Amino acid sequence: METAKLILRGKEYDLPVLEGTEHEVGIDVTALRAKSGAITFDPGYGNTGSCTSTVTFIDGEAGILRYRGYPIEQLAEHSSFVEVCYLLLYGDLPTENQLANFKGELAHHSLIHEDMKKMFEGYPPTAHPMGILGAMVNSLAAFYGDVPYNQDVQLNMIRLLAKMKTIAAFAFKRSKGQPYVYPKNELSFTGDLINMMFSLPTEHYHISPIIEDALDKIFILHADHEQNCSTSTVRMVGSSHANLFATISAGIAALWGPLHGGANQEVITMLEHIKADDCNYRKYIELAKDKNSDFKLMGFGHRVYRNFDPRAKILKEAADRVLNTIGIQDPLLEIAKNLERVALEDPYFVERKLYPNVDFYSGIIYKAMGIPTNMFTVMFALGRLPGWIAQWKEMTADPTLRIYRPRQIYTGEVLRDYTPISERN
Ligand code: CMC
Repeated sequence: METAKLILRGKEYDLPVLEGTEHEVGIDVTALRAKSGAITFDPGYGNTGSCTSTVTFIDGEAGILRYRGYPIEQLAEHSSFVEVCYLLLYGDLPTENQLANFKGELAHHSLIHEDMKKMFEGYPPTAHPMGILGAMVNSLAAFYGDVPYNQDVQLNMIRLLAKMKTIAAFAFKRSKGQPYVYPKNELSFTGDLINMMFSLPTEHYHISPIIEDALDKIFILHADHEQNCSTSTVRMVGSSHANLFATISAGIAALWGPLHGGANQEVITMLEHIKADDCNYRKYIELAKDKNSDFKLMGFGHRVYRNFDPRAKILKEAADRVLNTIGIQDPLLEIAKNLERVALEDPYFVERKLYPNVDFYSGIIYKAMGIPTNMFTVMFALGRLPGWIAQWKEMTADPTLRIYRPRQIYTGEVLRDYTPISERN
């Protein structure tokens, strides 16, 4: 077996080396502390492999993203979101029969318990839909059984996939003060979501096939992204044997942050801000480079992609297509393209390998679809759900799983004696 040598304070340690199917190399340090007393130190986990996984492969330098071996470009062009859900959950593309059964199951389980509707009423219409989504997904455990960790949870995986879009649409309707629209089995997964969001009991909404197709593509592009912040959160919480619904709710909370999934909302806020400031995008490029300012170019940069984000490339073309077809001229798209052009030539961004990420163009498409800004991250969550479930499923099937419990390097006070309050200054 190949090993790596570590020399620490004059002593040598042999550490096993792992190699993945795409030749990624990792040094196995599981026995390091027991052998040497030392731990590894890696804040932000930029160099830490927390698991082995068969779900998604990313080569950030080459801009490669594959689900179960299939390139994202091929899936975005030829597949559907439901087919990609199947692929992520079960490891292979479905046969016609398997896909039909899977679609049938998703349609069958798309209603939420009537009593859950009352919970939406408790929120003010101004509540952020991500907060509602997280709370409702957690609450599914109360309605659909807190199935013990080691029991068959196949049904709850399907329930969650089927019901989260209904919850998302109800959260949207709540924010609009409109009556809820129930799921319709005869519609496609994405078409059903659009219908629940935009139809009224009195008025049927015409679903444009272009919009339906674009949203389906966006969901495919978001479906998994290996050990990102929210997926690692799912694995972290799931490692304590928490139930599926509580675990995914934790992933939703992590995704909400503006450095992660919340960035798509922040991008539009930033572009609108620039538009209101005479479209002076150069000023904001300078601000993003200024280390005395907190301003960041939202939708730029990625921990893993250091060349380009393949998802952003597909989305940029999709944004153009959607806007052209529905005849919308959005000045935000022009500002976005200008920011991208200037930033890609600017040494600050070039040296740091900062490129537009998936969130840079997705918001422009959502906006053209009439989806309000505070629903953008909910859309991301719907897309990411099959990835979270697939990673959780993989983890729970791993017989070597241990509870996630990192170590730390303590840098606080050393031992000192308690002083009575009367003696403190
Ligand atoms: N604008 C300006 N400077 C930036 C930006 C940015 N968007 N992103 C990174 N930098 C700078 C950063 O200040 C640092 O500079 P220096 O070396 O001088 O200290 C350097 O680039 C390296 O950045 P980092 O913060 O070490 O990178 P990271 O890997 O820790 O963070 C990131 C990655 C995505 C959180 C970060 O790039 C960022 O905050 N981007 C804006 C938010 C965003 O768009 N998030 C969505 C990510 S993609 C969707 C998803 O999967 O969540």
